[in-house]
Amino acid sequence: MANSVALGLYITICCVAFIMSKIIVSFLLYKRWARKRRIIEDTFTDGKVVMFRSPTSRSLTSKAFMKKTMKLSNKDIIGSGGYGTVYRLRIDETTAFAVKRLNKGNTDRDRGFERELDAMSDIKHRNIVTLHGYYIGAQFNLLIYELMPNGGLDALLHGNIPLSWSLRCKIAVGAARGLSYLHHDCIPHIIHRDIKPSNILLDQNMEARVSDFGLATLMEPDQSQVTTIVAGTFGYLAPEYFDTGRAATKGDVYSFGVVLLELLTGKRPTDESFIEEGKKLVTWVKEVIEEKREEHAIDRSLVSVPVEKVRKMFAIAGNCLESDPSRRPTMAAVLKMLEQINQTNL
Ligand SMILES: Nc1ncnc2c1ncn2[C@@H]1O[C@H](COP(=O)(O)OP(=O)(O)OP(=O)(O)O)[C@@H](O)[C@H]1O
Ligand SMILES: [Mg+2]
Repeated sequence: MANSVALGLYITICCVAFIMSKIIVSFLLYKRWARKRRIIEDTFTDGKVVMFRSPTSRSLTSKAFMKKTMKLSNKDIIGSGGYGTVYRLRIDETTAFAVKRLNKGNTDRDRGFERELDAMSDIKHRNIVTLHGYYIGAQFNLLIYELMPNGGLDALLHGNIPLSWSLRCKIAVGAARGLSYLHHDCIPHIIHRDIKPSNILLDQNMEARVSDFGLATLMEPDQSQVTTIVAGTFGYLAPEYFDTGRAATKGDVYSFGVVLLELLTGKRPTDESFIEEGKKLVTWVKEVIEEKREEHAIDRSLVSVPVEKVRKMFAIAGNCLESDPSRRPTMAAVLKMLEQINQTNL
């Protein structure tokens, strides 16, 4: 009798110990997994730094990062936009980041900002700028991006050195691939809402990288409208956006069409040749295509490009710029069409 009680006790203890060990191991594995994703998560008196795991950020400590960040000055500014100022942050000879400083909003929005950024840390694509981490502070927030050595398409396209046709095609394909990934392949799908040349950056191989994705979805609808207009992106917004105020992937397709037109003509959508006599961009493109005037509308530095290629590219831009969103192609379809033109460039 005493033996069977002892045996029962022994079995119970073994079972409890077994279950406990499983719980402890699971807990430790979870902690290791959580740590793996965020290599640095440090709270300072006035804020918190989170860096995602990547080869660039592996050797970085949060203190070193914050120390360098606090020393940023006007001479480090790369540019500024509707939401904040972008700085070049050099850590050492081989490591540098682009840091975007955003002014603080309300607490709810900042929490949403943090959640959304965690989701973005999973996005790794060759045509999308990598987000390495962020800082949430009392006075301001920071977004820590990969530094793009060749800057934005806006500066490049409207700079002194003309871009070749093949480079313009390569940039169009790259940007379309990045956007198509955001729309169709990543979960949850992302609507960019602010596609324009300054948000298409160029890496060391002149490969296009879409940046600032998803940020607009974090903004309050009324605020995002105000900010976009102030930032001067008026010419890139789809017409239905003004009626409904709602964002959809086809709105990004329209904005991409404007970028294509800018690549073709070398002119910004606010250029007077588009708006003369109160013409809308869509009307202008349709007229150019119908009257087969593409070779006169093209950027002067591209006059030697075979007219057939120019016409095909204009036709794609025209498709993207349809006033009825349901008649516009998806980004996946746009990518396919652009890749076909690009293949004939080789
Ligand atoms: N990761 C980066 N590497 C290099 N340059 C960058 C990077 N991110 C932004 N820039 C450049 O910094 C400038 C300012 O960018 P920012 O995104 O703040 O403004 P914007 O794109 O002009 O307008 P918006 O605020 O509407 O996006 C742009 O010229 C942009 O091309
Ligand atoms: Mg931008």
